[in-house]
Amino acid sequence: MSKSLQAIRGMNDILPEQSPLWRYFEGTVASLLDEYGYRQIRMPIVEVTELFKRSIGEVTDIVEKEMYTFDDRNGDSLTLRPEGTASCVRAVLEHGLSNNGQVQKLWYIGPMFRYERPQKGRYRQFHQIGVEVFNLAGPDIDAELIALTWRLWTRLGLRDAVTLELNSLGTSEARARYRDALVDYLSARKEQLDEDSKRRLGSNPLRILDSKVPETQALLVDAPKLVDHLDDESREHFEGLKARLDALGIRYVVNPKLVRGLDYYSKTVFEWVTDKLGAQGTVCAGGRYDGLVEQMGGRPTAGVGFAMGIERLILLLETLELVPEEISRQVDVYLCALGEAAELEGLKLAEGLRDRLPGLRLQVNAGGGNFKTQLKKADKSAALFALVLGEDELARQVIGFKPLRGQGEQQEISQAALAEHLATSLSQA
Ligand code: HAM
Repeated sequence: MSKSLQAIRGMNDILPEQSPLWRYFEGTVASLLDEYGYRQIRMPIVEVTELFKRSIGEVTDIVEKEMYTFDDRNGDSLTLRPEGTASCVRAVLEHGLSNNGQVQKLWYIGPMFRYERPQKGRYRQFHQIGVEVFNLAGPDIDAELIALTWRLWTRLGLRDAVTLELNSLGTSEARARYRDALVDYLSARKEQLDEDSKRRLGSNPLRILDSKVPETQALLVDAPKLVDHLDDESREHFEGLKARLDALGIRYVVNPKLVRGLDYYSKTVFEWVTDKLGAQGTVCAGGRYDGLVEQMGGRPTAGVGFAMGIERLILLLETLELVPEEISRQVDVYLCALGEAAELEGLKLAEGLRDRLPGLRLQVNAGGGNFKTQLKKADKSAALFALVLGEDELARQVIGFKPLRGQGEQQEISQAALAEHLATSLSQA
């Protein structure tokens, strides 16, 4: 017997029961981004592999071991995007959106792919909402991005569940100076490093800072600190950001070990983390990448952004029981009709209601059944009201109006007055 077909490990279906919460979350973020003046951009899911190698960095975990890369029929190496910043920068360059210093405030949403070990909050296909800003170099826009996420947490009821960690990585020159100091220090103690860190010492030494190995962490206690190597410009930028967050009353923790897993960052980096989800606690992360556009062939262009993991935020809302009750109700009213003539009249009535009450969520019974069966289906649909139309009602041009959630007795309404009665009842429900 053939093996039953299943979704790929780490790639999930989002079932109809879960969709309302996704739509609520995505809708809340989209409205907020509208309010702050961000415009949506949609990029392809597949890009040439070179794009990610050049932007994320050859010796990052993502590029070294997590990408879904394949040759297409032409023999070109393509990759399912592991993140959105690289594609967004590519699109901005390709269409000249940042030419002549034009400011762009963009956002995107969609699936990303990383071959990681799946666990709670970590998947191989996951979804991000990301924001990228071009041609604004000051800390004011870094602060706006953080203020915007802060407002989002407030709207979702998550304000007390997340904390903000901040760091500055400095300009690339400052980082290069720091890297030399760190490599000198660690090379003298190479034998005490774990294998992964030994390898990184030659390729990407800053990543050793966020090693999870306790012995390596102990070794780092006395290591040179990035903040002591910051250049004046980055220091000023960081102070400017902190002053703005202080003015807004947004609390943060400066975490000198925060370096992020992608190579393109400079100056500000930040992560919103929660302790409510176990190991995968970062729900939103980002930072500045002032050198990236130039590195990808454009003119020097300031860039800053972040991305949030939708699955993790959905999990957090569920864990903290912050899912608003009304979002799972998808039906306002369910129309039951018995007999051929009533069914026909019911259809016309339903279309009339849709004309009169735009946005009305109306389900018309399909598949027949006696009134008892139809009312059972109405109840199961979670509708607030059922409309009941039989031959008797048809003859008298009325319709039965039955509240399903304990809001009073069934009434008879004239068909002519139905739309108005329904609108009033729904507004009071
Ligand atoms: P990232 O830190 O790699 O940054 O990912 C951002 C967020 O995506 C994470 O904080 C997490 O919530 C979510 N995420 C990442 N990997 C997974 C996974 N395997 N399963 C579930 N959720 C995941 C970036 O991607 C940068 N492009 C962010 C950025 C935009 N920086 C500047 N602009």
